[in-house]
Amino acid sequence: MLDQLETLTETAQAQLAQLESGDALAAWHGHYIGRKGELTQLLRRVSELPPAQRPTFGQRANQLKQALEAAYEQKASAIKAAELEKSLTEGSLDVTLPGRPVSRGRLHPSNQTLRRIYQIWAEMGFQIYRSRDVETDEMNFQLLNFPPHHPAREMQDTFYTTNPDVLLRTHTSPGQIRAMRDFYPEPIRVILPGMCYRNEQITARSEIQFHQVEGLAVGPNIRFSDLKGTLINFARRLYGEGRPVRFRASHFPFTEPSAEVDVQCFLCDGKGCRLCKYTGWLEICGCGMVHPTVLRNGGYDPEKVSGFAFGMGPERITMLRHGIEDIRYFWGNDLRFLEQF
Ligand code: DAH
Repeated sequence: MLDQLETLTETAQAQLAQLESGDALAAWHGHYIGRKGELTQLLRRVSELPPAQRPTFGQRANQLKQALEAAYEQKASAIKAAELEKSLTEGSLDVTLPGRPVSRGRLHPSNQTLRRIYQIWAEMGFQIYRSRDVETDEMNFQLLNFPPHHPAREMQDTFYTTNPDVLLRTHTSPGQIRAMRDFYPEPIRVILPGMCYRNEQITARSEIQFHQVEGLAVGPNIRFSDLKGTLINFARRLYGEGRPVRFRASHFPFTEPSAEVDVQCFLCDGKGCRLCKYTGWLEICGCGMVHPTVLRNGGYDPEKVSGFAFGMGPERITMLRHGIEDIRYFWGNDLRFLEQF
């Protein structure tokens, strides 16, 4: 049996030396020294020997088994190293290949325009004043000089809450009253950006929500020429130095006199095209001198101070700038639209 043991070990050693793969090594382990391996089984048969021979056999058997196990471990790490080496050279990694592009989020086109507008007004010394979206009828209309049955109310179809005195603001102008009451008696130079809401049929040209950026300046000796100069300056910064700007008389209840500002169409340079509807001009904002009643409602004395105000629509500005023909894209959350900006 001792001879058998020696031969078996020799065969096992010889085979082990030939092995080249992890799979073959595992099979070898099972065959010889695993739980059901030949060597293991041979060792179990020690009880068949006469008692006198058992210690010698046992000792030798243990020696050989340990030697095989050591050889197995050595072979295992050699094979592992060889396999790693092989996979590194064969499946070689090209570190110069460009990576998979990570798609980045971006600012909504309205926010891009809003930020540009904030920047220009900030450069002219206007700070941002945040006013609320949910307003009272008093702030949104009455204090802005819209009497209860004024027809202009109908132009601003309103979303009311269950309380008819509480509504979603239809324009940012009520922020004028809040800013005045907050700043009084100091001079004011603010813009009031925010979302406005109107209960209208949604079409390519009108949405039930949209942004406005209101502006307000109040102080001693503010004149219409200040309003003109400031808005011309704004338009030049937004649309380029040489772009002509014009003021047209208009009407708003909260300003007197009132005007609308047009810039010369930047698509056709005033010749007339589809964008400007063949007028050569694009309307960009409403404005005027703050009505004395409104100044008084804000707490100021119209005998001592005056002011100007304006209101513009960032979505309209964005539409004109990028030739967007349908305002519904803005809140449609369609990535095919949003990813273009
Ligand atoms: N509130 C007006 C609107 O929603 C826009 C506007 C016009 C605001 C003239 C003003 C202004 O401050 O002076 O249509």
